[in-house]
Order: sequence, then C-alpha cells, then structure tokens
Amino acid sequence: MKKIIIAPSILSADFSNLACDVKMLEQIGADWVHIDVMDGHFVPNITIGSGVVKSLRKITRLFFDAHLMITNPEKYWRDFKEAGAGLIVFHQEILADKKKLAKEIKDSGVKAGVSIKPKTSVEEIEDLLSYVDLVLVMTVEPGFGGQSFMEDMVPKIKRLRKVIDTKKYNCLIEIDGGINSQTSKICVKAGADVLVSGSYIFSAKDPTEAIKSLSI
Ligand code: DX5
Ligand code: ZN
Repeated sequence: MKKIIIAPSILSADFSNLACDVKMLEQIGADWVHIDVMDGHFVPNITIGSGVVKSLRKITRLFFDAHLMITNPEKYWRDFKEAGAGLIVFHQEILADKKKLAKEIKDSGVKAGVSIKPKTSVEEIEDLLSYVDLVLVMTVEPGFGGQSFMEDMVPKIKRLRKVIDTKKYNCLIEIDGGINSQTSKICVKAGADVLVSGSYIFSAKDPTEAIKSLSI
C-alpha cells in the first residue's frame, strides 16, 4: 500500500493561535501544511500572505504546500518561496504562460504544481503534466473551507491517475475540498496521493484520530 500524504489546511485553524495549531499538526502526524493563499480577486475571499508563511517557517519543520488562488502568481510566487514554501501551486485558469511559470518555479529549486477548479477538465492540463510535480484537483469551488465534497470530480482523479501512470510522469495527485474519513477513501481508491483537509481536522474532538482516519 502506498503512503498517502496528509496536508491539513490551516484555513480552518485559529488565526489568533496559528503557531500553536501548526505545532499541533506536527505532533499529530501531519505530513505537510497546506496554505491557502487568496487574493479577493481570483476567489471571493482574502486570506494569508507571505509574511505569515515566513513567521510560521520559524516554528515548524513541516513541508509547506502553498496553494495560490490568486490572479497573478507569476508576480508573487517568489515571495512564498523565499518565505519557506517547498511547493508552489498555481491555477490553470490564470492567464500567464503556465509552462514557463512551472519551469521558473522548478528552476528556483522548489516544487511546482497546477490546480484545476471544478469546471476545468483534465484535458486542459494534460500537456502541462510533464512540467509539474503535482496536480491539485479541487473538489469544491475554491474560496472557503467547510464545503461539501463534489463527488462528480472523482472521474477526473481516475483520468489523471491513468494518464500519469501510462505516460510515467513524476506527478503527484492532490485533492482539496470536503475531505473527511469517507470522502478520503473515495479519493484514494480513485488514485489520490495527497489529501488536503481543513474543517474536518480542525473541528474534530480528537484531531489525532481524525488525521489517522484519513489514511486508513
Ligand atoms: C478552498 C481551499 C481548501 C479548503 C479545504 O478554497 O483550497 O484548501 O481550506 O477546506 P475543507 O477541508 O474544510 O474543505
Ligand atoms: Zn487549498
């Protein structure tokens, strides 16, 4: 059985106690920290900037996965890299040259990923898969935590698994939105490698059990 990477999203953390919550994630066995960056333009919400990432970098050794839900990642990704993110995920739906952007990010020494919103098809990113280390499938409309998993996204996960395996691409599949102990199993069965989970972990009475239940 392959190891599933669990990446809790700090969007559901207590922002007045962020250091405490991130240290808790480390203690309960999280693999990565998923950081949802929103600009109030690409999505209708504003969240975390690179300054916060820089401060968090000092208090944990966990790998930082920066999900940039912003219109101009080509302008801002370096700030997140310098702040300590190890993976920079931009969206397919932005206007910039995605192949160029992926190449620049990887050439700088960090990993690059591309994310697709629910209405974006796998076909639209197939030719980008050989340029990125990870593809993130959104299973909710990006913008807010606590939404319900869109089961009609599962065929996209299966399709990606098939393409990546057939072409032998070195590309992980990450799923983000509405992940809990039930939906995680559907995603793993469909071919997911990395699971993001926010509200399920942070609202759990026992976050250790919640995290464990995602990879079983
Ligand atoms: C949504 C974000 C997600 C979100 C996941 O735009 O990209 O990472 O925080 O939260 P849950 O697990 O609550 O759906
Ligand atoms: Zn996210």
